[in-house]
Amino acid sequence: MTSTELSIEELAPRTEDEVRERLAAGKLVEGVQHMSPEYLRGIRRILTVSADTELISAPAYLRAAQHAPALNNYGSAMSIIQDELAHAHIGYRLLGDLGVDMPALIYEREPKRFKYPYAFDVALDSWHELVLANALYDQAGFVLLSDVHTSSTFGPWKRALAKVDKEETFHLRHGRTWIKKLVADPEEKRRLQASLDWMFILTLEWFGLPDERKRHGIQLEYGFKGMTNDELRQAWMAAVVPFMDEVGLAVPAHHDEAAGRYVIDCPFPADFDEERKAWRLDQGTISWEQVMERWKRRGPMNRDYVNRLQRGYRMTNGARG
Ligand SMILES: [Fe+2]
Ligand SMILES: [Fe+2]
Repeated sequence: MTSTELSIEELAPRTEDEVRERLAAGKLVEGVQHMSPEYLRGIRRILTVSADTELISAPAYLRAAQHAPALNNYGSAMSIIQDELAHAHIGYRLLGDLGVDMPALIYEREPKRFKYPYAFDVALDSWHELVLANALYDQAGFVLLSDVHTSSTFGPWKRALAKVDKEETFHLRHGRTWIKKLVADPEEKRRLQASLDWMFILTLEWFGLPDERKRHGIQLEYGFKGMTNDELRQAWMAAVVPFMDEVGLAVPAHHDEAAGRYVIDCPFPADFDEERKAWRLDQGTISWEQVMERWKRRGPMNRDYVNRLQRGYRMTNGARG
């Protein structure tokens, strides 16, 4: 934080009761002038997670795009990457309006302090993994952002997400179209399945701790999101599992008709071998504390991706500060 940056208490003049009254009257929060310190802290946190996730997907997808089978396929991947950078820009720009020092946040932050899901720390090494990421990770992003779009009480973000949602639909469709094409060939299908085996479970983790472990109070009450972690995980499986069934790819989850919900058919959460990109499912279920330790350590690509994003700024601002 620079010395000119105002504190949260100085920026957000409303009391918690005033915020609750405003929301109860059906009004949106349009800026810091309508926020309490707690609201400002909460909306900054969720916007940072969202913007970091969008931003890190750019180097992750760029690495995989070099495996594009043809130049026009590379072009499609580039247009997805451009979308992701624009999505990141929306989030960081709003954070700037909320009093955050944007250059410091994006370009001067330690790689380990970025808040995107661990899944992006694991390298995407083929065109198969890029299109699976579109079908799995972009689907996760879509589920989360649609929920924010519906439930958010922060007007500027809510409105911006109308455009983001449409673009995520294109990313999803890109993934699904390619998967349908690739499964027609037995060797391509085998490669897809091998990648799906680690990527599916990693995306299940994306939605975070199960509801019985996590208290959502403020996030739900202030309308930063509408659904709980487990509800979001269910919504994601409801989109992904039927599609994978349809194309004949196996996933460790199925719909339990009697319970009316999706059930995970493998140990979860489990231990992940990040170098081999494989789950140690034979060791059974591990604790969420162990998962959180891995998340906190960050994974193999964290430093590389963040350095790549920060390199140009460092070169042109070498003397800054
Ligand atoms: Fe995005
Ligand atoms: Fe996307």
